[in-house]
Amino acid sequence: MNIVKTIADLRAAVARARSEGKRIGFVPTMGNLHAGHIALVKKAGQRADFVVASIFVNPLQFGPNEDLDSYPRTLAADQTKLFDAGCHLLFAPGVEEMYPHGQAQQTLVRVPGVSEGLCGASRPGHFDGVSTVVTKLFNMVLPDLAVFGQKDFQQLAVIRTMVRDLNMPVQIISEPIVRAEDGLALSSRNGYLSSEERAIAPALYRTLCEMKTALLGGQRDYAALIAQGQAQLQAAGLRVDYLEIRHAPDLQPADAAAHELVILVAAFLGKTRLLDNLLVDLA
Ligand code: PAJ
Repeated sequence: MNIVKTIADLRAAVARARSEGKRIGFVPTMGNLHAGHIALVKKAGQRADFVVASIFVNPLQFGPNEDLDSYPRTLAADQTKLFDAGCHLLFAPGVEEMYPHGQAQQTLVRVPGVSEGLCGASRPGHFDGVSTVVTKLFNMVLPDLAVFGQKDFQQLAVIRTMVRDLNMPVQIISEPIVRAEDGLALSSRNGYLSSEERAIAPALYRTLCEMKTALLGGQRDYAALIAQGQAQLQAAGLRVDYLEIRHAPDLQPADAAAHELVILVAAFLGKTRLLDNLLVDLA
């Protein structure tokens, strides 16, 4: 696996692969890789001939009081995992390379609508940072396809909408959430949890599963279901940021006729904000 830190070296390596007729697959990450990230890399390897991963902790998508400085940076271990997963090229730029004009760079990509509400409500500017950096990365890598996880369900919807609206010639592929044995969705932020908090955290997935069972059993009083779920999470020791039932294809509020639903949750355990979601198909 080749490792490059500059845009020029990245472009040269990708151009070489493309000149050999290879299809380019791309997996953007912020590093501290776990089995969830690796599933995306393997999926890219199944769909493309040349797999590019990026590791960049993007300052533009962190709020002023968020965990930019403490976000885990584990480049050496990440390299080994990427190599083992069959990644061909790792792009690991510094902040100067990505934002040579500082965060005051003038152009932002904003995807209104789908980026509002849910995580967009509690993390103002977050999705502008995500869509801007993903646009920059797409312009640098020029991939044929890119793989994103359903773990960040709203982020996936934002990227799909952006690619559609701006006619970006990149196929977006999604991968299901990879979970620990007890159901907790893998996340780089799980490392912040104390052992007591880690024992509480599976309540998140458990609650989603119970809500799903109720929906499949015919429960249609979403408000009651959500109130019950919130109470359950609070009782377990989580502070709920949001718990919502939405229409999965467009993340609009779900009406009674909707078949493809997604239950989305964000909750704090101590200082750590955890995300999860579960698809429910009522068809
Ligand atoms: P990061 O949190 O590192 O996640 C990179 C990719 O891994 C995302 O597509 C995310 O949805 C996916 N992922 C994370 N945990 C997963 C899990 N348990 N199962 C399946 N997929 C999982 O998301 C970002 O980075 C950034 O916002 C980024 C897109 C790189 C832009 O900076």
